Amino acid sequence: MDRRAFSQLLTLGAAGLTVGHANGEAAIAAEDAEEGIAPAAGANGDLPSSAVAVDDFIELARRNLPKATFEYITSGSEDEVTLRDNVDAFRRIRVLPPLLHGIEDADLSTTVLGQKISMPIMLAPVAVLRMAHPQGALAAARAAAEAGTIHVAGSSAGHSLEEIAEAADGPKWLQIYVPADRDIASRLVRRAEQAGYRAIVVTVDLGERKDADLRNRFAPPKEMLLKHLRDIGFTQLTEQNTYDEILAFNASAWRISLDAEFFEWLRKTTSLPILIKGVLSPQAAKQAIELGLNGLVVSNHGGRRLDGMPATIDVLENVVEAVDGRLEVLMDGGIRRGGDVLKAVARGAKAVLIGRPQAWALAAGGQAGVAQALQILRDELTNAMVSCGCSKVEEIDASLLMS
Ligand code: FNR
Repeated sequence: MDRRAFSQLLTLGAAGLTVGHANGEAAIAAEDAEEGIAPAAGANGDLPSSAVAVDDFIELARRNLPKATFEYITSGSEDEVTLRDNVDAFRRIRVLPPLLHGIEDADLSTTVLGQKISMPIMLAPVAVLRMAHPQGALAAARAAAEAGTIHVAGSSAGHSLEEIAEAADGPKWLQIYVPADRDIASRLVRRAEQAGYRAIVVTVDLGERKDADLRNRFAPPKEMLLKHLRDIGFTQLTEQNTYDEILAFNASAWRISLDAEFFEWLRKTTSLPILIKGVLSPQAAKQAIELGLNGLVVSNHGGRRLDGMPATIDVLENVVEAVDGRLEVLMDGGIRRGGDVLKAVARGAKAVLIGRPQAWALAAGGQAGVAQALQILRDELTNAMVSCGCSKVEEIDASLLMS
């Protein structure tokens, strides 16, 4: 893949640009994608309430979205081995609850980096949420605030970090990729501080390449890509620029070769807590500690990046062991049930994040859909905790799991 295509994937996850663009097919893809900006999401107010499990949102989302948009959200890279494994690995883990535990209710609240949240479930950063629903990240942020949890706003979500911050009062973190221009990076961090974000999450697992997107020639509409880049700070781009020019600009705007230096710089630049997202091994966890970071997210980008990487729940325990309490460990990938959250916390995660379930629920019913997805997971986790005799999140431990 050429650098231009790769950078496109990096910032917006779109893959259609490796094909078609030069001969005009991208324009068609862009039109198709444009339909995705205003799906009939939530047109039937009853839609979200018909879901009893977060996977029920898959069909509701499929009905509301153009095929290319739905598949962009749902698919994984190449053979989708990692995507499937993320989900299946949770199902391989058995829970063995104690008998006669005398617990009737559970308090799901916990803290991450000292911030109190109502349950150990947060919203993961998701690009182009505006294609799932016109309110996109604004609706997700509101649903998270309503649920008392953290929304990790994606800097590629389709709304600016200020727009997202203004949408809701809840605690927010900002996820960024690494801009090639250090001044832009510096301004992004300052803007995040000013807008009240409480942590910066830097995503380092790069290289999305998904067959579904290639087949569908999925590409973000010009308007969306332009807004995204202007929101990042590239205000020299205007509507006068052609789609081609914007794509070319985007291709050179991001650092795709990552090294420790960026984190050293970032550590000196902000006093906000910094997390690295994309850790899968004890070695990587140790690097995060050496860099003085505050937390890490065990993540394989939901199986959207390099296929063949391990399921996150399978590597979590080793990472937690290597970290040995020196920074906080979060995880994402494959969370579809409250019981999955219990398993992740039992293996040492402070909290989990949800990506696809959030996007499906958003497409199905906007803010109400995401609120419903969070409520379903909360209810399932409550049930799992009570069944396991855990009245508090801190009481969840590995003794509940059969290994
Ligand atoms: C993502 N993810 C993601 N991560 C990130 O750090 N920045 C981003 O812009 C995006 N974009 C994105 C788009 C879409 C449509 C999806 C589904 C995911 C990855 C996300 O934060 C998270 O790591 C995974 O989604 C977790 O796996 P599940 O919950 O989808 O199984």
